[in-house]
Amino acid sequence: MQNIHHSNMAPELSQSVLLLDKQRFNNHLSTLLTDLLSESENGDIPWALNWLKKAFLYNVPHGKQIRGLLVPLTVRGLESCPSEKQITEAYILGWCVEILQACCLVADDIMDKSETRRGRPCWYKVDGLESLAFNDAMLLEQIVYRIITKYFKDTNFYSTLLELFLNTTYKTVLGQCVDTHAGRNQNYEGYPKLQDGRYRFTIEKYKAIVKYKTSYYTFHLPITLGATILGLKDIKTLKHLEQFALKLGYLFQVQDDFLDCFAPENLTGKIGTDIQNGKCTWLFICAKDSSSQEELEQLLDNYGYEDKHKVDIVKNLFEHLQIRSKCIEHVRNLTQELTEHLKQLNNNKEISVLMGYLLETVVSVPMI
Ligand code: IPE
Ligand code: MN
Ligand code: MN
Repeated sequence: MQNIHHSNMAPELSQSVLLLDKQRFNNHLSTLLTDLLSESENGDIPWALNWLKKAFLYNVPHGKQIRGLLVPLTVRGLESCPSEKQITEAYILGWCVEILQACCLVADDIMDKSETRRGRPCWYKVDGLESLAFNDAMLLEQIVYRIITKYFKDTNFYSTLLELFLNTTYKTVLGQCVDTHAGRNQNYEGYPKLQDGRYRFTIEKYKAIVKYKTSYYTFHLPITLGATILGLKDIKTLKHLEQFALKLGYLFQVQDDFLDCFAPENLTGKIGTDIQNGKCTWLFICAKDSSSQEELEQLLDNYGYEDKHKVDIVKNLFEHLQIRSKCIEHVRNLTQELTEHLKQLNNNKEISVLMGYLLETVVSVPMI
């Protein structure tokens, strides 16, 4: 196993602080759920609250919690002595990011017809739920706003939080629109197939999909939440952090595309579906651009089908075109670029320290 691992971790923030944060963050979840379930309002529909608890416990806690933990990480990266109150706020908002993520994943797995997630059946596959799981995605989304209202209503950044979650969710679902529709009608009758395949999957379109479906909610949201807790309002710094978040998101999604195709299920906890769904992935674009006319025809004839035989043809073509090593190389270059970006920030120590932590979090994802 090849682990693209760099040591940018600034010594100021020790592994033990991060580990303690992880434990305390996890312990905080039961408090949130208990508070949510003991609200007097809506108490007369206990069956619904029982269901909410079940859907919540299945979908919220079992991830890597990268996104949630980025909130306390940002607080620590930008402020060397955060108060206990600020750290607790970071845990609560970190869980809100994880709940939004759970909502997106429940819906994403239905749309992508996936089988497994985090090493278990996708929620819509549990107890034959199928389309009923749609309502649970909405339920999870609503919980975010109940939590924010409960704990932050009286703060001076309440409306900032609401706006941030609403704007981010909007961007994410816009991204999901393009992601899911790009894969449709791969070989729609009457289309000039070859030309169509060339035309619809461009690197520009890919970058737009990634920016919207992944980068905003995965990186921009938790980083901005951390900054908001600290009362950081400087537009220039926030813009800078946004640019960095978008770059990290791109790196993260290229890795995700790689893992979808090349990683074993026990590493990712999910069975890949990108080839079957004809998704506009980095791997596909690289393959399309590396193909001869004949290979391109073969690629377009077989990409975007459930048929196992066709999927194997695509995977073999990917190997033949050396997409695996090209992708690893691309990830290495992106990491290098981000490291350079950091070096140029010596005049702003807090920001560069924080960005170092964030980059470390992303590149420590193992690539096979
Ligand atoms: C979905 O992207 C992103 C969101 C859930 C908003 P993917 O479809 O690539 O995610 P995975 O690979 O299923 O986790
Ligand atoms: Mn998916
Ligand atoms: Mn994916």
